[in-house]
Amino acid sequence: MSKPKIAIVVGSTRAARFADVPTQWIAKIAKSHADIDVEIVDLRDWPLPFFDEVASSAWAPSQNEVAQRWQRKVAEFDGFIFTAAEYNHAPTGVLKNAIDYAANEWNKKPASFIGYGSVGGSRAIEHLRLIAVELQMAPVKSAVHIAWGDYLAVRQGEKKLEDLEHLNQSATALVNDVAWWAKVLKAARAADAIASEAQAA
Ligand SMILES: Cc1cc2nc3c(=O)[nH]c(=O)nc-3n(C[C@H](O)[C@H](O)[C@H](O)COP(=O)(O)O)c2cc1C
Repeated sequence: MSKPKIAIVVGSTRAARFADVPTQWIAKIAKSHADIDVEIVDLRDWPLPFFDEVASSAWAPSQNEVAQRWQRKVAEFDGFIFTAAEYNHAPTGVLKNAIDYAANEWNKKPASFIGYGSVGGSRAIEHLRLIAVELQMAPVKSAVHIAWGDYLAVRQGEKKLEDLEHLNQSATALVNDVAWWAKVLKAARAADAIASEAQAA
């Protein structure tokens, strides 16, 4: 079986975003893990409209062409690491919209989060964990929380995420967790597919 493929989904799109910094940092750590392949998926490259379909794609095929492509893109992956900016104690609208635009493609795959902000994006991450459960994802215990002091120091160029050992440790735990669950769940999904084919034959 091929290596699990993990997406790092860049969850904010504004011009002045901080998201690029944690994205590049976690991508380097994730790419050094021997058991997974890693790709950055930037929501700036996915100009989805505000959700405008007759139903969730779990119930009715989406009509919008970008949405159809987005669903095929999400389906390529076996696990997800989302950068989690916190806007008013919640995930960004652009990330929630992109999540809503796929459905079955998220199912039975692990998810984790790199949060940042006053309390390390904790409130956005907890929202995202609930959303992930509704989409039958497996949100893992480990997450990264870049709290305000570190966020400001990195944003102002006084420190680099690479130099912050407590964050490197959280990031390594996160990648290890996602890689483990991605491998296990990829095998389980493959076994399910074989069983369904056998039943249909
Ligand atoms: C609309 C808006 C709301 C925000 N609300 C919060 C918040 O509730 N909690 C928090 O810790 N930071 C909040 N912030 C500050 C963000 O943590 C900070 O701007 C961060 O860089 C946002 O991520 P981004 O730069 O990737 O967009 C908010 C920022 C914006 C633009």
